[in-house]
Amino acid sequence: FQFCANDPEKFADACELAEPHCDGVDLNLGCPQVIAARGHYGAFLMEEWERVENIIRTACARIKKPITCKIRVYESIEKTVEYAKRLERAGAKIITVHGRRREQRGPLTGIASWDHIKAVKEAVSVPVFANGNIQYLRDVEKCIEYTKVDAVMSAGRSPFSLIRFLAI
Ligand SMILES: Cc1cc2nc3c(=O)[nH]c(=O)nc-3n(C[C@H](O)[C@H](O)[C@H](O)COP(=O)(O)O)c2cc1C
Repeated sequence: FQFCANDPEKFADACELAEPHCDGVDLNLGCPQVIAARGHYGAFLMEEWERVENIIRTACARIKKPITCKIRVYESIEKTVEYAKRLERAGAKIITVHGRRREQRGPLTGIASWDHIKAVKEAVSVPVFANGNIQYLRDVEKCIEYTKVDAVMSAGRSPFSLIRFLAI
């Protein structure tokens, strides 16, 4: 399961409900959409590290299954690494890094930075998943080779997902 949240107790409540039905719960800290700005969640918590840590810590204390999170990156690699380390210290068991900044959406989407992802992978001990710039299976191999991540997550804007989208 994945949830967006900005309230530690509410996220922990949701995790408790989800726990019997899943292998773990992911906190979405990457959503850059207008709805996330309005609701103040996802990537709009990137300036509130203490709040984010609190959300993760509270959920970890409440359920046994792993709490993981998915983040976007800052312009600075160092800041991105520091953020990831804080999330790890708070209890995140996997960190998925979408290598784009919060502003990189819609027509500004552009290229994801595998350098940011690589730096996070080098800095934390928990598994890191890479996200962004994956269109073909070969990209997965290239990404793992370059960043040394443990896995790649892809939502896909590949021709296949386009076809699937058109079919719907
Ligand atoms: C319409 C839309 C909805 C999305 N919803 C989610 C979501 O609920 N959770 C999530 O982690 N990422 C979500 N994403 C982001 C994707 O998972 C992924 O991070 C992004 O598309 C980059 O990966 P890609 O290069 O493989 O497409 C969404 C993306 C789009 C375009």
